[in-house]
Amino acid sequence: MYVCLCHGVTSHTVTDAVTCGATTSREVANVCGAGMDCGRCKRTVRAIIAATLEERACAG
Ligand code: FES
Repeated sequence: MYVCLCHGVTSHTVTDAVTCGATTSREVANVCGAGMDCGRCKRTVRAIIAATLEERACAG
């Protein structure tokens, strides 16, 4: 699913960015560009960050 239409970034790419260490929407933007332009995707990016970090915490 596309999260950021401005940069053509998918939710998979955002998840990968978080897995590689990004923990804020700004860090994700630095890694893959999502949120760099109109910013409309930032809410979704933050939700994916939260979900991914939570999942990782549960996985131990
Ligand atoms: S949709 Fe992501 S910056 Fe515009």
